Amino acid sequence: MRLNKLRMAAVVTAVAVVATVMPASQAATNKQLEIFTWWASGGEAAGLKGMTDVFVKANPNTPFVNATVAGAAGVNAKGVLVSRMAAGNPPDTFQAHAGQELSGYVKAGQVEDLTFLYKSEGWNKIFPAGLVKQLTTGGKIYSVPVNIHRANVLWWNPAAAKKAGITAAPKTLDEMLVDMAKFKAVGIDGIALAGNGDWAIAHLFDVVLLGSMGSAKYNGLWTGKTSWRGPDVKKAVDYMAKILAYGNSSKSLDWPDAGKLVTGGKAGFFIMGDWASSQWQSDGLKLETDYTWAPAPNNVDAGPVYMWLSDSFTLPKGAVNRDAGIAWLKVCGSLAGQDSFNPLKGSIAVRTDSDAKKYDSYLQAAMKEWKTDVLVGSTVHGVNYNNAGMAAYDSAVGKFYTGGAKDKTGLIASLVAALAASKA
Ligand code: GAL
Repeated sequence: MRLNKLRMAAVVTAVAVVATVMPASQAATNKQLEIFTWWASGGEAAGLKGMTDVFVKANPNTPFVNATVAGAAGVNAKGVLVSRMAAGNPPDTFQAHAGQELSGYVKAGQVEDLTFLYKSEGWNKIFPAGLVKQLTTGGKIYSVPVNIHRANVLWWNPAAAKKAGITAAPKTLDEMLVDMAKFKAVGIDGIALAGNGDWAIAHLFDVVLLGSMGSAKYNGLWTGKTSWRGPDVKKAVDYMAKILAYGNSSKSLDWPDAGKLVTGGKAGFFIMGDWASSQWQSDGLKLETDYTWAPAPNNVDAGPVYMWLSDSFTLPKGAVNRDAGIAWLKVCGSLAGQDSFNPLKGSIAVRTDSDAKKYDSYLQAAMKEWKTDVLVGSTVHGVNYNNAGMAAYDSAVGKFYTGGAKDKTGLIASLVAALAASKA
């Protein structure tokens, strides 16, 4: 996707706020709001609370029901959501990623057209045009984006790097391998790996594909233009196998626990989305002191590349409390909502009038890079594939990892099948 398409803007505002959190089991009334996400703890829950506080303040008589299903990247939540939709019991709003993931719900006829809200709230003028395109099918806009996350971030602990004699972030995958060997030499695992649920390993693979073949070929993978059976993918799989060999011994860590290996000085690098930073801050750690960052290594592109994803909220067809859902969506798109949510969630606002002073130094840098870097989409977080394609992709890479990174041919065959699953 071209960068300039994703940028264009304008202005406006909105408001809102909330009530007490009630158990999800409570029967729906026509007055409450039931919201469905996977933001259950740490920085993710803190971000959600930032926005729900805005909702509660603006809607003091609307009880807020938080139907969060724990499990990062939605690994558990998406299944529950599908069952609820199939049973005709949707929440009043749910989280879906911009791109192919959202298109899946649109094609299934499960979400309402929100073009009327874009008109009444002036969002067409304030959200980047290229992003709105990712939310549009057949000329209709189906969700409200609350943020932009960056997936291809390399995190590390300056004290551990010093111990290993590393003074600057690796710029290429080969430099990264050299640095991981330096970590290993001083008794530190080269990279922290989170095997629980497969998605974090697949997330790493997305970043390795990009770093190995560059943005143009990476973009071609999701359309069929770059062959999964060609030499570029083989090369990336070779890198992946080498990188995995430097990981921690436990193959089933959840991502916050893998992240702790890095901040605790037990592992060198961590490739994770920028929600890692808010997670660490919610644990009391300090950016630039306890941990720092750089764009993930890239062998090919001349300048920095930003692998993006965007969390957005929908209005399911048949929602019991439709008015409450609409009130929530207004908060999602508002300046108050976005600037309360994002500094805590570790993401940048979608609105082009967001107040940079509310964001830390990493996020301020992200705001600038989002405007100037080449942009590519995250596969694991909904941009390139729908839910079926993502599930197949995650499990292919997860199997490769748990199998000791040996079956390269099997991995490639499964990746071919994942593309087909997403297009089916
Ligand atoms: C992504 C989501 C992020 C964050 C992450 C880890 O899919 O977009 O907001 O929640 O998963 O759970």
